[in-house]
Amino acid sequence: MPAVERGLAEAHPPRRAVGHRMIYLPSPAGTPAATMAGLALPRWGGVAGGGGSAGGVDPTSTTTQPIGAPAAEVGCKHELGVQLQGVTAHYLAYDSYPIQKGDWVVVHAAAGGVGNLLTQIARLLGARVIATTSTEDKARLAREAGADEVLGYQDFAQRAREIAGSDGVAAVYDGVGKTTFYEGLRALRPFGKMIIFGASSGQPDPLDVMQLARAGSLYVQRPTLATYTRTPELLRDRAARVFDLVEHGRLKIRIGARYKLAEARQAHVDLEGRKTAGKIVLLP
Ligand SMILES: NC(=O)c1ccc[n+]([C@@H]2O[C@H](COP(=O)([O-])OP(=O)(O)OC[C@H]3O[C@@H](n4cnc5c(N)ncnc54)[C@H](OP(=O)(O)O)[C@@H]3O)[C@@H](O)[C@H]2O)c1
Repeated sequence: MPAVERGLAEAHPPRRAVGHRMIYLPSPAGTPAATMAGLALPRWGGVAGGGGSAGGVDPTSTTTQPIGAPAAEVGCKHELGVQLQGVTAHYLAYDSYPIQKGDWVVVHAAAGGVGNLLTQIARLLGARVIATTSTEDKARLAREAGADEVLGYQDFAQRAREIAGSDGVAAVYDGVGKTTFYEGLRALRPFGKMIIFGASSGQPDPLDVMQLARAGSLYVQRPTLATYTRTPELLRDRAARVFDLVEHGRLKIRIGARYKLAEARQAHVDLEGRKTAGKIVLLP
């Protein structure tokens, strides 16, 4: 038996059987992610394990929770898309920088999993969204999500300032990291918020804080989903709000590609090669 399956089987034998569908949620074993699975997944078990959002399942530290009463029925494609990326997009827009109606914001990689949902939620909150993407096809997806303007990454800060007006944008939501972080600071208005939540291109170089002074008394946050869902109550509340948006058709989950489990390697290659958009699903 492969190590992952053996680990799962040993952790809680009575609750799983061949054919059960499992979702991996990255948080410490036994902590709120499992609660979310119980809340949100009417027909699914949840697996909470160690590791970051790109981490694999550690069979020695996984737990499952019983399937709980659902907040409401949602289709399983929605369940897949909402778990990690939807809850992340929600806390970014509502709490990391709480979007105000009329704000201009930059959302990087707006065809990606988090970026696409964040663009939609930002629009729901009344923001005007300047999106970045790397290709025309991805630009179309960003527009479909509601982006007002879509740019390539080249000189995006200057273009964003021209679009938003000379003061710049209220916030930059940056999941790309190394290749965008420092230029993003130049797009912000005075007291603007740089929310650096990911590192698809690698971690940014260390920050000289005087750059924040020179660029207009800026703020930088490096948030994590774990902090925003650090208690069962916080997680339940956030998950319920996200599923409510999905159920009412206000947040659309886009499954960008499906791969057979045996093609997991190819899925990773495509992710790294920036060939994917939306949520990627591995199927048995
Ligand atoms: N802090 C948190 O709470 C939290 C939660 C979830 C995810 N994250 C992080 O947020 C980031 C985005 O997550 P996601 O799920 O939205 O990922 P995703 O669906 O794979 O999207 C990532 C996008 O980044 C863009 N990108 C730019 N430079 C890239 C490069 N050098 N290599 C690969 N992609 C590049 C690509 O879009 P273009 O081709 O259009 O540029 C790609 O589609 C990841 O770093 C993830 O770990 C953080």
